[in-house]
Amino acid sequence: MFRSHTCGELRLSDAGKSVTLSGWVQRTRKMGGMTFVDLRDRYGITQLVFNEEVDAPLCAEANKLGREFVIQIVGKVAERSNKNSNLATGEIEIIVDKLNVLNAALTPPFTIEENSDGGDDLRMKYRYLDLRRSNVRSNIELRHKMTMEVRRYLDSKGFLEIETPMLIGSTPEGARDFVVPSRMNPGQFYALPQSPQTLKQLLMVAGMDRYFQIVKCFRDEDLRADRQPEFTQIDCEMSFVEQEDIIQMFEGMAKHLFKEIRGVEIKEPFLRISWDEAMRRFGSDKPDMRFGMEFVELKDVFAGKADFAVFNDAAYIGGICAKGCANYTRKQLDQLTDFVKRPQIGAKGLVYARVGEDGSVKSSVDKFYGADVLNELKAKMSAEPGDLILILSGPDIMKTRKQLCELRLEMGNQLGLRDKNKFALLWVVDFPMFEWSDEENRLMAMHHPFTHPNVEDIALLDTEPAGVRADAYDMVCNGVEVGGGSIRIHDPKLQDKMFEILGFTEERAQEQFGFLMNAFKYGAPPHGGLAYGLDRWVSIFAGLDSIRDVIAFPKNTSGRDVMLDAPSTIDQKQLDELCLQIDIKD
Ligand code: AMO
Repeated sequence: MFRSHTCGELRLSDAGKSVTLSGWVQRTRKMGGMTFVDLRDRYGITQLVFNEEVDAPLCAEANKLGREFVIQIVGKVAERSNKNSNLATGEIEIIVDKLNVLNAALTPPFTIEENSDGGDDLRMKYRYLDLRRSNVRSNIELRHKMTMEVRRYLDSKGFLEIETPMLIGSTPEGARDFVVPSRMNPGQFYALPQSPQTLKQLLMVAGMDRYFQIVKCFRDEDLRADRQPEFTQIDCEMSFVEQEDIIQMFEGMAKHLFKEIRGVEIKEPFLRISWDEAMRRFGSDKPDMRFGMEFVELKDVFAGKADFAVFNDAAYIGGICAKGCANYTRKQLDQLTDFVKRPQIGAKGLVYARVGEDGSVKSSVDKFYGADVLNELKAKMSAEPGDLILILSGPDIMKTRKQLCELRLEMGNQLGLRDKNKFALLWVVDFPMFEWSDEENRLMAMHHPFTHPNVEDIALLDTEPAGVRADAYDMVCNGVEVGGGSIRIHDPKLQDKMFEILGFTEERAQEQFGFLMNAFKYGAPPHGGLAYGLDRWVSIFAGLDSIRDVIAFPKNTSGRDVMLDAPSTIDQKQLDELCLQIDIKD
């Protein structure tokens, strides 16, 4: 028997018991004739004591233990004289009788404690050591707890967990595919699923009625804090449903998770706002509603009122009001200007106006606008003495709104308004069906080509496709898109029309999606669904900004696994078997 108890288990009530523990040496301390060892496993830390006066050879053995040695001990539980209230086992220690070194260890490249001295790259290279740290491990434990609760909830609602294949054809979700060459079919490739979208729709045709899967998805896209090239979806689909049924089912699931995992009661129904409104009020289809600072459109206030080309030529002028920030220094305002001018944000500059304690307005455009215009600005912004008004303008309405959105989030951060223990959930609905792609020079499906248009907009498909709204919905929590879905097209004729609008020839649509179109001819039920991003949910529940921290073995921002050193080249024999030739252009 390697152990009778774990390292997190023993309490004062166990005093006097003889126990066997196994684990890793977190650290050793020698104090006079005594040696103390912190023994760690997944469950906690227990203090071991070796006394030179009682057993000198055993104590000498203990003094040779290095960090991260794997040991087994036999000893007696005793009450500790100096108790440690930070440890669950802090009232006891083990007086050791026997020590068995199970495995020696090299000195770890960074300290395996809550606050490690290891940099990001180093910790990722030795992720198996990083995972020994309690705060990293607790994220993985949280993830496990969440997947268990997801399964419990969906099972109670009659969902079947069904696996779908990983080696499939392309599933269009708007990113590039990861492809896998087929040895048995030379020159042909599988694609790894960007999501099980088409397969779950086929399961509805198959009559499975309610499906879910906690499933890996693969997307070759630029990475950000909330994006990994492989990530996990809680993917769901239901038959004989309308948008309202799905919204209720998955609001219920979010509420269940908050209650079971965080002990937080979330009120239903969640707020619902249209995509159009979200863009107008927050410049984002995933607004962070933990705080206000809503956009105010200011074209009426400024346009044509002075010889200021920046505003006169702008298609959009918008402002936000930062409460109590009129005392921002010149340096702070310059920093905000630099922030919006960063290439990834791309604004040309920032106009600001301070409202003084006496109510007067002083702005960076004073030489263009008189007190009347500035007072109108103050009124329109509902600004009060002590407030700071920040204004962006530009020739492209959407781009400028997105820039103002970044500024709003930055001000939210600076003012501490994005509290990690506060949760603001909402649905964004009525997305546009299509968006124009300059790269492809055609309309693209904003969600995916299987999304049903809003019933009242179907007539517009022929006349004004850009004005068609989709029967699609995203769930947003704290400014993060945690899930998205739609009602699907189940009528083969409507699906054909959709492919036509998206610029697919009949042959190409048949070639790529014939399997689905043909299936629909055999009786497809009305259906719809949603996929939650599991990694994003866990990171929100853990109060973390990056999903990397909730994935056991994540990739870095260049899509590399630095521990496995992947991706890597393959040898010539493998290339030959796959009939592949490498031709790197530059
Ligand atoms: P969508 O593309 O919106 O929809 O994805 C669903 C959810 O998956 C999460 N997500 C990601 N998480 C981490 N890294 C990524 N690269 C990443 N990409 C997406 C998000 C997102 O809301 N088949 C549809 C769903 C449906 O219509 O039912 C789909 O995949 O949280």
